Amino acid sequence: MSPLPPFTNEPVLELRRAPAREALAGALAELDARLPLQVPVLVGGERGAATGLESTDPGAPSRLVAEAGRASEGDVTAAVEDAGRGFREWSGRPAEERASVLVAAAATLRGRRPELAALAVRECAKPWPEADADVCEAIDFLEYYARAAIELDRGRPLLQVPGERNCMRYSPRGVVAVISPWNFPLAIAAGMTAAALAAGNAVVLKPAEQSPGCALALVEALHAAGCPPHALALLPGLGDAGAALVRHPGVHVIAFTGSSAVGLDIVRAAADTPQGQPHLKRVVAEMGGKNCVIVDSDADLDEAVPAIVGSAFAYAGQKCSAAARVLAHEAVYEPLVERLAGAVEVQAVGQAERFATEVPPVIEREAQQRVARYAAAAASSGRIVARAEDVPAEGWFCPPTLACDLDPDAPVLREEVFGPLLTVEPVHSVEAACDIVDSLPFALTGGLLSRSPATVEAVARRSPVGNLYVNRAITGAMVGRQPFGGNRRSGTGAKAGGPDYLLQFVEPRVLTENTMRHGLVVE
Ligand SMILES: NC(=O)c1ccc[n+]([C@@H]2O[C@H](COP(=O)([O-])OP(=O)(O)OC[C@H]3O[C@@H](n4cnc5c(N)ncnc54)[C@H](O)[C@@H]3O)[C@@H](O)[C@H]2O)c1
Repeated sequence: MSPLPPFTNEPVLELRRAPAREALAGALAELDARLPLQVPVLVGGERGAATGLESTDPGAPSRLVAEAGRASEGDVTAAVEDAGRGFREWSGRPAEERASVLVAAAATLRGRRPELAALAVRECAKPWPEADADVCEAIDFLEYYARAAIELDRGRPLLQVPGERNCMRYSPRGVVAVISPWNFPLAIAAGMTAAALAAGNAVVLKPAEQSPGCALALVEALHAAGCPPHALALLPGLGDAGAALVRHPGVHVIAFTGSSAVGLDIVRAAADTPQGQPHLKRVVAEMGGKNCVIVDSDADLDEAVPAIVGSAFAYAGQKCSAAARVLAHEAVYEPLVERLAGAVEVQAVGQAERFATEVPPVIEREAQQRVARYAAAAASSGRIVARAEDVPAEGWFCPPTLACDLDPDAPVLREEVFGPLLTVEPVHSVEAACDIVDSLPFALTGGLLSRSPATVEAVARRSPVGNLYVNRAITGAMVGRQPFGGNRRSGTGAKAGGPDYLLQFVEPRVLTENTMRHGLVVE
């Protein structure tokens, strides 16, 4: 097997070019003609039920995108037991061979890029740039972890002394339960699944109920690439299927990305060691955030305004890394609020399939109601300074909103809204802004806009967030360039797309051999 070329990020489409837009629009028309997709429960390659769950278009809720199975507790048990058998086969393959399967799956996704982006547009209302980037990131994860697993398989050098041989190897842990969210319907499911498989584990994937169609595309690509059906099962379903999976004693690792409430429940459940479970469960949890952007008195507002607005409102604020709270030095507070207000009012709200759309609908009715509740609370405990009122009547739209003058104890300043609502507050100093950031239970992403290297250094030292972005947008982490993930209640700090991530999916084993001769055995 020839060595893989060095990893590079999959280049995103240049949507300013008409042919690129035409290819995507064509793929969307073809997809529409095939809807609804059928997403079965898939265990050991056997197609189970594809009924019980429906995913719909957030921009046109009467459009059915996928009919999916709704995995039961029995399906969970069957999937975990089958994955236990699949683990033996898959973990026995050399790391290079497993890597070649991941690379082949990446090639399949690459060949289907327009169609898969179209699916993310329909199933999750991702505007085209985000939908295309989602597919690219899925490809990146497959390619990156394929290489990382080969590297990890070489082990790490240890100190050697005469008469003794020491080596440390990393062995896969067993069955990995992958539980994914809908907001990166392909990329996040692909990332956790690819890491687990690359390291030699078997996977039971429980995707978000809002995006089973995207998950099926990933699983099909991996199966077609040579991943044994017993090493990768798909359980479309609701939270109850995830809860049953987490608690199954045959699961060794739980790789979860989603809300903090569910993540904390998983951490608690995984601590249990029921009868018949000889191992401890490892939890990799990537959770929510309350991402703050600090704007210093010397910040370039021409740079700050688009960076903040893009981070807060792209994909309707539904990225875990999205900007939610701006802490602006009092010297620039007034002009910043005025300029942010102007930018918010002209946000292009519309259907995800329109190329000009900046703010699409949110994922579902409950999300729309949640954002509306927080916006109402912000209006009563503070002041709404800008709102893009002109939103389509059909679909789960929320007007992009900017709020200020809030009560410092208002829940909207501390809780994750996960929608197009941004707050701004004045602070006396960058130090005071850091105190606020430090008081939050979340520590996912953060931003700083400042021209002073000393301030950049001081904030970087103090900030607890997993990913701090300076003088730029705070979204858009790239695999291999910005290993991603939060601290505190935002995550277990595993850093997806980074050099340490695979360590979560393996256990180190050390072999020490006495190499001194003990004399000749004479019979
Ligand atoms: N930190 C990150 O890298 C990151 C990335 C993307 C999204 N997120 C977070 O994800 C959230 C949005 O995603 P969501 O709405 O899909 O989250 P969610 O927690 O509602 O659901 C995530 C997954 O967990 C499953 N689930 C629900 N209840 C469960 C339970 N009791 N036990 C096990 N599984 C259960 C769901 O069915 C789904 O598959 C936001 O909070 C966002 O910040 C974080």
